[in-house]
Amino acid sequence: DWTMAEFRATKIAEIRAQVGDRKVICGLSGGVDSAVAAVLIHEAIGDQLTCVFVDHGLMRAGEADQVVSLFRGSYNIPLVHVKAETLFLKGLEGVTDPEAKRKFIGKTFIDVFEDEARKIGGADFLAQGTLYPDVIESVSFTGGPSVTIKSHHNVGGLPERMNMKLVEPLRELFKDEVRVLGRELGLPEVFVGRHPFPGPGLAIRIPGEVTKERCDILRKADAIYLEEIRNAGLYDAIWQAFAVLLPVRTVGVMGDHRTYDSVCALRAVTSTDGMTADIYPFDAAFLSRVATRIINEVKGINRVVYDYTSKPPGTIEWE
Ligand code: XMP
Repeated sequence: DWTMAEFRATKIAEIRAQVGDRKVICGLSGGVDSAVAAVLIHEAIGDQLTCVFVDHGLMRAGEADQVVSLFRGSYNIPLVHVKAETLFLKGLEGVTDPEAKRKFIGKTFIDVFEDEARKIGGADFLAQGTLYPDVIESVSFTGGPSVTIKSHHNVGGLPERMNMKLVEPLRELFKDEVRVLGRELGLPEVFVGRHPFPGPGLAIRIPGEVTKERCDILRKADAIYLEEIRNAGLYDAIWQAFAVLLPVRTVGVMGDHRTYDSVCALRAVTSTDGMTADIYPFDAAFLSRVATRIINEVKGINRVVYDYTSKPPGTIEWE
């Protein structure tokens, strides 16, 4: 009779056996998986674990602060918070290809992470919140010959480069099970129930060039959308919901003058593991409320559209 409490105890024993008295470093992404992995490992080996949060400036509104306060405040887990927004945005200048964005962000993440790891004297193990679907999807997306749709893993290559072994206590779990484990470990519900967020962050939700200005516009629209979803009590019924800022300007009219601003697309899907997804069927009143608020409150957006594409043939993210 298999329960999460037993899984927790088993994993803690396994982590202790694997790590012994050596040191582990864990990169936090701000998401549920890496947070649950970190808290579990901390329970197993305490201060032999150091967490590094590389803040690339491509997070949603308020997200970086939540991660920092969860780790430093609630758990008292040592956390290095690296503020690297300028470095990332500078390197993204002129980059428009989705995989080029991922490559740059992944590589820069590794550089920053390595620097920080060196500063604290290195570690023997790297902890990652890899889940079972990550293992499958990186092997083969289609079930046929291995095809890379998107290169998801932004710390791939790091263990070899840093000569470290991996600690991946969540490798057998699906997302819903990670959430159960997170609750078992006492993580706050707002954190455990959080929608998945991709490593490259807002960079892949801004087709075309990513700038600080466009990140700020997107953060505002996205925050309004999510606030309305929470107010309507729909957050937990949705796998992922987010806004995308399109590199297209259209003409509109506001009061008595002409506008010429960006289009914002809203995405919301249901899914159990992210591998397939259906669109969330909001009612029309909800969507028009969100559209009106975004257009009225966010300077730079004058049109809002809803994405009706399931996965497949679409992917969840636009890039
Ligand atoms: P797609 O867009 O491939 O997304 O249907 C499936 C799930 O993966 C997330 N995703 C990523 N996560 N790095 C990540 O860590 C990435 O480059 C990346 N691309 C997509 C996406 O948010 C969804 O949950």
